[in-house]
Amino acid sequence: MKKISLALTSLALALSAGTAVANCDSGERVVKFSHVTGGTTHPKVVAANNFADRVNKEMNGKMCIEVFPNSTLFGDSKELEALLLGDVQLLAPSLSKFGSYTEKFGVFDLPFVFKDMDHAIRFTNTPEGKDLLLEMDDYAGFVGLGYWMSGMKYFSANKPLLLPSDAEGMKFRVQTSDVAKQMISAMDASPQAMAFSEVYGALQTGVVDGQENTWSNTYTKKFYEVQDSITETNHQLLAYLFMTSSDFLASLSDEDRAQFLQIADDVTQEANLSVKAAEAANRANILKAGGKINTLTPEQRQEWVDTMKPVWTQFEKYIGKDLINAAAGA
Ligand code: SIN
Repeated sequence: MKKISLALTSLALALSAGTAVANCDSGERVVKFSHVTGGTTHPKVVAANNFADRVNKEMNGKMCIEVFPNSTLFGDSKELEALLLGDVQLLAPSLSKFGSYTEKFGVFDLPFVFKDMDHAIRFTNTPEGKDLLLEMDDYAGFVGLGYWMSGMKYFSANKPLLLPSDAEGMKFRVQTSDVAKQMISAMDASPQAMAFSEVYGALQTGVVDGQENTWSNTYTKKFYEVQDSITETNHQLLAYLFMTSSDFLASLSDEDRAQFLQIADDVTQEANLSVKAAEAANRANILKAGGKINTLTPEQRQEWVDTMKPVWTQFEKYIGKDLINAAAGA
């Protein structure tokens, strides 16, 4: 890769957004990786940059990846469409954002279906979990390269939510997931789907009263600044589909495709090995920054389970009972 000159303004903008600017050579194929998370300690930021670094070094002269974090290229509502149009080649959206393409991914959103991230990783390694990587290939040309775990989710609000009844009447931001919407309704609260980039402002201005997310998102997006407390509900998984399009893969030579897929696999394994440490570090970062975290007694936790788990039966006919059993029993 030889250095090319970049317009100073675009470089400054990219650096301020934490973009991993690659100095791509004019002979190299430039591949765009867009995602919505930010900061330096977020598991998706780390994994995306690791992937770009490895490809840019090991496939030097052939391929050059540019990473655009923080919704700087495409936000939640546009990124899948951009992949369909070939305007971007790599994404890592939350598994909760595929509702327009498949109902099966609702399995990852079922409340309390996974005890922890290890349980979720076991499921992704089952035949059922692996099949879902290619679930959307036939009709959308979306190809899953691997699952990147992000963390378990916790509710935040401006008051402690120790029981689901504490949330009655409140408005919660959710991702565009029907399962998540039903789960919030089960708490007698109102779900409001919105893009990730809008959450901080919506919490700050009171458009919503609360949200649910991982330690890494809560810390890197500073949600703790505009929410008094976070409750360690551990109620749902947040994970990503590291993905590309079948058109992009088909455009590579056999040799380049094999090398690209091998690096994708290595980076996925590595990302899932380090995600628990990243989450623990960002939990500690929130406390250090003055955030307040509530833990639940076993009895309180059981009330959350009893309130939310009935959502499973509502989605059984869309997700499939066998798939739900495979996830719960992994
Ligand atoms: C992400 O982690 O990619 C976004 C999660 C969210 O929309 O809450």
